[in-house]
Amino acid sequence: MNFSMSYLPVISLLIMFSSAGGFPHPAPPAAPENITLEYIDPTFPPFPEQSPKCSLQLLQHDFADTTGAPPVSTNYTPPLDCPAPWSRVVLELSGIASDIQQDRIASIWLDGAEILRTTTPLPMYPGVHWQVNKDITKYTSLLRSSPAGSLFSMILENSNSSFPGIYSINVTLHYFRGALCDDTPTISIQSQACNQLSSHANVKELYRKPADMIIPISNEAGDCCSGGYWLKIHNETDVQKTIVSVPGNAYRAVMEIYVTAHADDQYWYANPLRSVPIDTKDPLSSAKANGGFRQVVLTIDGKYAGAVVPFPIIYPSSVNPYFWSPVTAIAAYNIPSYELNLTPLMSMLLNGREHEFGLKVRDAQPHWRVTANLHVWLDAWSDGVEAGLLQYRVPPLKINRQAYWKEKDGKSEVDGQVIVRFAGWVSSSAGNITTSVRERLKFKSHVMVQGRGTMKQVAMESKVRMNVRVEKERTVIGRMVMNMEAPLEIMTLSSNGGGGSVFERTKMNHGLEEMKSVVRGKEVVVSMVSDRQDSEGSCLMEEGMAVWGSGDSRSVYKYRDDKVCYLRSLNVVGGRIMDDVATPSCVALADE
Ligand SMILES: *[C@@H]1O[C@H](CO)[C@@H](O)[C@H](O)[C@H]1NC(C)=O
Ligand SMILES: *[C@@H]1O[C@H](CO)[C@@H](O)[C@H](O)[C@H]1NC(C)=O
Ligand SMILES: *[C@@H]1O[C@H](CO)[C@@H](O)[C@H](O)[C@H]1NC(C)=O
Ligand SMILES: *[C@@H]1O[C@H](CO)[C@@H](O)[C@H](O)[C@H]1NC(C)=O
Ligand SMILES: *[C@@H]1O[C@H](CO)[C@@H](O)[C@H](O)[C@H]1NC(C)=O
Repeated sequence: MNFSMSYLPVISLLIMFSSAGGFPHPAPPAAPENITLEYIDPTFPPFPEQSPKCSLQLLQHDFADTTGAPPVSTNYTPPLDCPAPWSRVVLELSGIASDIQQDRIASIWLDGAEILRTTTPLPMYPGVHWQVNKDITKYTSLLRSSPAGSLFSMILENSNSSFPGIYSINVTLHYFRGALCDDTPTISIQSQACNQLSSHANVKELYRKPADMIIPISNEAGDCCSGGYWLKIHNETDVQKTIVSVPGNAYRAVMEIYVTAHADDQYWYANPLRSVPIDTKDPLSSAKANGGFRQVVLTIDGKYAGAVVPFPIIYPSSVNPYFWSPVTAIAAYNIPSYELNLTPLMSMLLNGREHEFGLKVRDAQPHWRVTANLHVWLDAWSDGVEAGLLQYRVPPLKINRQAYWKEKDGKSEVDGQVIVRFAGWVSSSAGNITTSVRERLKFKSHVMVQGRGTMKQVAMESKVRMNVRVEKERTVIGRMVMNMEAPLEIMTLSSNGGGGSVFERTKMNHGLEEMKSVVRGKEVVVSMVSDRQDSEGSCLMEEGMAVWGSGDSRSVYKYRDDKVCYLRSLNVVGGRIMDDVATPSCVALADE
């Protein structure tokens, strides 16, 4: 991580800019020539080779001053002209900002079950617009809806008092028909072959066939109130509890978790481990700093049932906002949810009783917004499914914390590792099937500050390897291996920008790699996603807000499975897209 120090001559120029009153002061800057107002997340294209059978616009709303307001909601019934089943359903959110504004977190729910968590861009000019496309086929049971209809709601807490920007948002659902899945209970692991539209680039999803039932784990007060269905977690002892009962003929269950970090923990990934904050004006050093490790933990009746280290989402106002215009940070527009396979633990759920699901965040500071969806698959051919637990090995997370600080400088490290094993059988009309899950987590966070607080280096990496084995009558009928790696490196040099401002020069590398291989009999299907971003630039901060800056970034997104290989590579210099190459086939690529 070497840095050129060639930014010094720019400073006097910057002071001229800032005293001239750039963003965020009232007069919005006109967009510089040739700057695109379309902000993008260059991932997999939303509709490869197919047009929807029908589309339904669900929401058209201007979010002006909505802080503290309940979500906006509307009645939902599926379109009459294309009833279920659908081979695929895609949610499209399109938005435009009328003027400059802060970035805002938003969520969409269907009957209280979250189906999208997203952030808006940070619009630095009037007219910034963007789109989010998400495959929401896994929510089919909610999308079918009851004859009485369902409640569709969206929250986007905006305020147009400090900045005038109003967000105009449209939400449309696109329904596709085509080849269908035949994912019977015997076939317990997602099969790509079951769906000719498999190119939906979701490597982590465990099962392709949508669940028969989705039980929301969210704030029941939801639609009436401020904060909507979000459950807020304030600290590490705060456990959000929800009582749920599961039908007696359930043969499979997956808990899906949505989570974002806010306020003191917005920059959790850059938190040093120390008792005194380094600098309250520096947004990368939070009020209370308890290290760069967080884990969302799920419990069933107080017993550990799984955990996830969230992917560090870089919000559009974070690190250097000029990095995220016009290309957003990895996964910021389509914030990933995490799936915990509860099938080996079915015996904990199948006793006809009510169960308490608990959600907490290890080492949390105020505050986290969490919701979860319990996806349940039902055996239509039986009234009662039996289940038993064969293995439950949950050793404590081995975590090392080391810190050495002297005034502003020092370093801290947190690293952890754990291997969890669950196995259980479920006896349904499909036979007696045993599912075994082994998950290994490795985690490392490193924060170093030198030069009396002027040089900060953050490095973080989490690695997960999950093995799933499915057996019937002592014969292995399916195997799955999933690997995930999320490396993040940020290095910032700061200096006095004059007039109380801070000039920061930052270099950042961020990545998300996921690989899955599924073995069923003689068939092996491998799919992988690799999303990488390398950014470099500078920015002038006044009172924790970026007022001037510039960023260069290079993004490379690659998706590959047995049928598709898609690559998109984008190069941005000073906020201008210099080249943008997409190839629907990797055959032409020299490096393949
Ligand atoms: C904007 O684009 C036009 C046409 O491509 C080009 O002639 C002009 O030099 C560009 N201006 C800037 C500031 O890059
Ligand atoms: C929303 O939809 C309306 C009408 O269909 C259209 O005029 C408007 O431009 C759309 N807005 C966005 C942000 O896509
Ligand atoms: C916020 O937006 C609303 C709706 O357009 C408008 O009536 C109001 O005047 C705006 N408030 C401010 C402070 O600009
Ligand atoms: C943790 O948060 C809960 C809920 O806001 C609060 O009641 C409790 O006092 C907090 N505990 C600590 C140790 O701050
Ligand atoms: C299902 O298989 C497991 C493991 O082989 C066994 O312990 C259990 O008794 C079986 N259950 C039924 C209902 O046959």
